[in-house]
Amino acid sequence: MSEKITHSRRRFLQATGALGAAAVAGGSEGVSAQEMQTYGDGSRPAPPETDVEAILAEMSVDEKIGQMIQANVSTVDANEIASLFTDYHVGSLLTGSAYPPSRDPVELAKGVNALQEYAIGEGNGVPFVYGLDTVHGNVTVEGATAFPHNVGMGATRDPELMAAAARHTGDSASAIGAHWGFAPTSGIARDPRWGRFYETLSEDPHLTGELGAAAVRGLQEGDAEHGGVAASVKHFAAYSEPQNGDDRSPARIPVRDLVENHLVPHHMGLQEEPLTVMINSGSVNGVPAHASSWLLTDVLRDRMGFEGLAVSDWNDFHRMVEMHEYAPDLRAAVKAGVNAGVDMAMLSDLSHVDEFHAALRDLVEAGEVPESRIDEAARRSLELKAELGLLDDPYVDPTRAPDVVGGAKDAAREAVRESLTLLKNEGDALPLAPTQNVVLAGPNVDDVRAQCGGWTIGWQGLHADDAKPWATTIADGVRSRAIGGVAVHETGYAFNRWSDDEWSLDAETKAAIVADAKTADRVVLVLGEGPYAEGFGNTDELALPAAQRELVDAVADLDTEVVGLLVAGRPRGTSETLAKLDAFVMAYYPGSAGGAVADVLYGDADPGGRLAFRWPDGVGQVPNYYNQYHPAKDNADALFDFGAGQSYTEFAFSDLTVSPSTVADAARTGTATASVTVTNTGDRTGTALAEAFYTEAYGSVQYPRRKRLGSEKVELAPGRSRRVTVEFPLAALAVVPGEVPGDADPVVEAGDFTVELGGETATLTVGETVPLDPTPGASE
Ligand code: NOJ
Repeated sequence: MSEKITHSRRRFLQATGALGAAAVAGGSEGVSAQEMQTYGDGSRPAPPETDVEAILAEMSVDEKIGQMIQANVSTVDANEIASLFTDYHVGSLLTGSAYPPSRDPVELAKGVNALQEYAIGEGNGVPFVYGLDTVHGNVTVEGATAFPHNVGMGATRDPELMAAAARHTGDSASAIGAHWGFAPTSGIARDPRWGRFYETLSEDPHLTGELGAAAVRGLQEGDAEHGGVAASVKHFAAYSEPQNGDDRSPARIPVRDLVENHLVPHHMGLQEEPLTVMINSGSVNGVPAHASSWLLTDVLRDRMGFEGLAVSDWNDFHRMVEMHEYAPDLRAAVKAGVNAGVDMAMLSDLSHVDEFHAALRDLVEAGEVPESRIDEAARRSLELKAELGLLDDPYVDPTRAPDVVGGAKDAAREAVRESLTLLKNEGDALPLAPTQNVVLAGPNVDDVRAQCGGWTIGWQGLHADDAKPWATTIADGVRSRAIGGVAVHETGYAFNRWSDDEWSLDAETKAAIVADAKTADRVVLVLGEGPYAEGFGNTDELALPAAQRELVDAVADLDTEVVGLLVAGRPRGTSETLAKLDAFVMAYYPGSAGGAVADVLYGDADPGGRLAFRWPDGVGQVPNYYNQYHPAKDNADALFDFGAGQSYTEFAFSDLTVSPSTVADAARTGTATASVTVTNTGDRTGTALAEAFYTEAYGSVQYPRRKRLGSEKVELAPGRSRRVTVEFPLAALAVVPGEVPGDADPVVEAGDFTVELGGETATLTVGETVPLDPTPGASE
């Protein structure tokens, strides 16, 4: 332990005791004058040294290993977790799975301060960095803002909105005492059976990359004055295509596909300089990602130039033994992972901390992990703290939390309107008129748990007795509009966190719905899924549960038009159900602002979303992403294609031009544009998506049947036209050239590319085959 630490334990306990008592009494209603005076008055222990190299030079091997540990805590009582600081000198704390020690924002901030005082005063003087999950907002504390889950944010196609949501998230996380948010998810959607499909932004690599990069920017910027938190591009890499759809089942991905698709969004996110990366828990082509020096060093460091900290996912050294059966024991797993490039181990509890610490110390003593590797990892941990300003001022001002948490309400509402995706609308079933009499029925009509999904104040979503984010429900939104009357029927499905198999529709409720529906102008059924996370969300069924199909059947043959609204994290529902609905809207998990769904239902806002994935007609069509090779399943085989989604008005596209239309060298030119005239030919104001693809190209390998280049959204009044320019990176044309092993570096090949936008086509000619710079390739 460093000898520079001179704070007395007695002095420390006085300070913490006072704060602890105030924390219990204070709640979120306010912070006492006494605490406000105490904050920042110099009475707290401060890090004795701010220079990273000087701190490192004073550290023992034990302390350096401590810097490589991130320990999960569920308390802010320093005495309960004292040994983390005094025996292990842990460099980081987390509260995983959206379970912090307190749901009260002010109490949590004060508790983090108290722990920080202990770490600095009684530990080795180095502050810890505290991380938590920010999957769709800072959704850990009471009153937080939950934005739509990523699968909905992808539908918005709006990087600015993504950045705005992330800015609030970073601001809010830092106001409750966190320094690090575990987001964005930069894996591409490939398999809707997977329980984490909704955490992905899109199946398209560039769209995922654009939005992920925006999230990194927003999270790390936070509020202009106070700054945000460190972002974690995760899960590096290729976690999102588990071979059988089950979470953490092994991925088997051709290297060509890895380089052309899976690595691309990570690389794009890294260009925004996130301070950290979180590693994939799964194995890729037979090697756990945590043991892969190809992924963690050759690709992440040497190719992509990442200089920040690489943290493991939850207990993943142990998983190499217990789950992957890759290593015979923890010592072998730690040796493989640390030497491959893992800088910090995320560990669930004290016993895991102890085991990791002992294994690594033993390996260093035996010379099986070089001390230089420990130095490198500890240095990255300290540099992260220096970047975050923790070595200068490790404490948070708890008075800020009440003003910040729960903000960005307008952005949350806008995200709902911009994500809602209208997939069918026959006979103008939508929009609703306020004077119509509406029946609103189904499991997700008035349910904050369902509309927020997993990772919301709890890993598997809200509990009945838990805190809540602020929220308006779909029923709230409809009630506030419907002057023609609204009958709300929550169908009484038993909520089951682990599966929806047990949901049932009782005869009485069904009869009441049918009776009301007979005399109504419209029936709106709010169907879908409850919350789930990780493996608990795996499914081998994409059709809606039987009870929901029964509900659809009950009203399908009445004279009243039926609107289906899906609150779900993936493409649930098949052609059998769709055929019975007059209109169908995908609402994803809209989060706090569920009431804004009614803005779209009533036509106050145009449905702004377009699918960011291809919707298979049942699980038998999986995998079925849009950018596959020929002969891929054609459009007729999917229920809806990537980009599907209607407006309430009509748009025409004309005069597509590509500029430059001839490119000599794709690496030097960098970007090109596709411009098109968009005209609103309907009779309402609406939002068009101008999304450019290439649809035909020939080279040394097969090209995907279609690949997105970029997009722009434009709002137009009836009869108005606008020239819209979509800028896109020529890197979107890249392929890994050559033979079957697919281990060459990616290039943009010479040739003609057919660019398509809104049914119009133009040609882009590339003169010379050139490698990309920088390139996330596979070769040595
Ligand atoms: C495991 C998940 O895979 C990861 O995404 C999350 O950030 C950590 N647990 C912490 O909760």
